[in-house]
Amino acid sequence: MSNDTIVLGIETSCDETAVAIVKNGKEIISNVVASQIESHKRFGGVVPEIASRHHVEQMTVVLEEALEQSRLSWDDIDAIAVTEGPGLVGALLVGVNTAKALAFAKQKPLVGVHHIAGHIYANRLEQEFKFPLLALIVSGGHTELVLMREHGSYEVIGETRDDAAGEAYDKVARMLKLPYPGGPHIDRLAQNGEESIDFPRAWLEDGSYDFSFSGLKSAVINKIHNAKQRGETLKDEDIAASFQASVIDVLTGKTLLAAEEYQVKQVIVAGGVAANKGLRKALVDKFAKTNIPLYVPPLKLCTDNAAMIAAAGTINYQQGKRSGSDLNANPSLVLQ
Ligand code: KG4
Ligand code: ZN
Repeated sequence: MSNDTIVLGIETSCDETAVAIVKNGKEIISNVVASQIESHKRFGGVVPEIASRHHVEQMTVVLEEALEQSRLSWDDIDAIAVTEGPGLVGALLVGVNTAKALAFAKQKPLVGVHHIAGHIYANRLEQEFKFPLLALIVSGGHTELVLMREHGSYEVIGETRDDAAGEAYDKVARMLKLPYPGGPHIDRLAQNGEESIDFPRAWLEDGSYDFSFSGLKSAVINKIHNAKQRGETLKDEDIAASFQASVIDVLTGKTLLAAEEYQVKQVIVAGGVAANKGLRKALVDKFAKTNIPLYVPPLKLCTDNAAMIAAAGTINYQQGKRSGSDLNANPSLVLQ
């Protein structure tokens, strides 16, 4: 018997069907992701019913591929981890029921995982954690600052009061008639634009680490409408650069303030928007002037995958946390 902990992770909260096998919460053995983006593109966003149907179609293939790539057998697997929420309920249910069926059939412990805990633990696949740790999570559904004082402990110190950062990117991208998901397109345009439009920065009241992006989104929409009515032409690149500058200012500003207040030993970034080139550069520049180490994960670990769920699930498993056969999908699961 080896002392290694091998966890199989399953993720189906949105539009990626993913299965991965991870050793000791740190080492990826296999990591298979089937993306549905092409199917949702023509609708300009994720269609929940289509997402669920694709998960059902893809799950067995992805699971078999992850097992085959790992060259392991079921005997080697210590536990099965699955995203139980938050996310689209029909999509989550496919993963949860697959995990429950496998746990029952193979007689393995079952561990439910919070999707955001997964995004945070994606970083540990590359870099060991130092506590207290501050995580900035920026994805299509979430914008949160999470303080961790030890493994498996999460204190949400700031969150969005309306749109998530990725949602704002996707909505502005839609205004500019860019394909879904719009974040990477805005990012690309922003590299060639001037920050010539002064969009608002939602700092909110003093000392709050909460975020708000709906005012910024409306400001961008108004600017485009007004320009059109006056017959003025705005360059898409400049809109993108100015919008992105506002998002980045607030995200990096609040992250730095929180990191200093809580005297953290490490700052990590997670979620799809962490792939943003402008955000990555701004964070690196800002933290280079401090003595707080910042870790920015590689792009493949920023977006949804199951290795991150297996990594977070390993901690739950090692801490004795187990889910029963009554585990259910919880679209509004709270991180705690
Ligand atoms: O974490 P993720 O894959 O899924 C969720 O859990 O939401 O994040 C997807 C989000 C989308 O809104 C997408 O537009 C955004 O991440 N995104 C980006 C970039 N790449 C992906 N946003 C800005 N810049 C990028 N380079
Ligand atoms: Zn995600």
